[in-house]
Amino acid sequence: MKTLIVPDAQAVTLLAADILSEAIWTQPNLVLGLATGSTMMPLYTEIVRRHHEDGLSLAGVTSFNLDEYVGLAPNHPCSYHQTMVEVLFKQTDIRPEATHLPRGNVSNPSTEAQRYEELITGSGGIDLQLLGIGVNGHIGFNEPGSSLSSRTRVEMLSEATRHSNRQFFTSENAVPRYAITMGIATILEARACLLLATGKAKAKAVAAMIEGPLSATCPASALQMHPNATVILDQGAASKLQHGAG
Ligand code: GLP
Repeated sequence: MKTLIVPDAQAVTLLAADILSEAIWTQPNLVLGLATGSTMMPLYTEIVRRHHEDGLSLAGVTSFNLDEYVGLAPNHPCSYHQTMVEVLFKQTDIRPEATHLPRGNVSNPSTEAQRYEELITGSGGIDLQLLGIGVNGHIGFNEPGSSLSSRTRVEMLSEATRHSNRQFFTSENAVPRYAITMGIATILEARACLLLATGKAKAKAVAAMIEGPLSATCPASALQMHPNATVILDQGAASKLQHGAG
């Protein structure tokens, strides 16, 4: 795991945008794994800016998002699908038919999870997977206790995660209890992973991910096994590391 520590959240965004833009310029038909969460939003704003001002084109890109809430239709304002439409898809030239998320409002979410996993495999796999990290160490919606060999599946959300994501809903009760998420093994198959974390609230999870044991207790620690994983941290997120950048 390559760890890069930069001064602040804005520097995290700019460095991640550089890595992502470079990947798209180099490989216009990139298969890109996307993440949601507040950490990612400034990155998408910056990619949209580069699309408009620097000519960065996503016309050849295929995207697969990590996860989606069970029970929310794609056009529900709180769905990850609608969020991605608003912050990235409709503001760039990415082809709508090349953007993929699990469908949250299907009658059989487990079947949908399997279909999604096969769609990823059928596309030739993900070249670059963007990731955030939950305060409890989750990646995607792989909560603590998730098998490190897990595949795309339905996962029950922990109370900690539902509480963190309450900000996007009208009340905590409105936060769905289940999600479809890429599994940890699915994520590890991406040819490269790029995880962003900002702020002191993430420091404990970040330290467990980078310096803790490989353990289902901190699902993000699975990235220790990935041959091409990069983590970009601001000072706050890096503040509990014992060994600094490595
Ligand atoms: C959410 C998402 C994750 C995201 C993480 C961190 O629940 N499912 O993919 O990376 O939690 O979110 P944030 O950036 O808002 O802290």
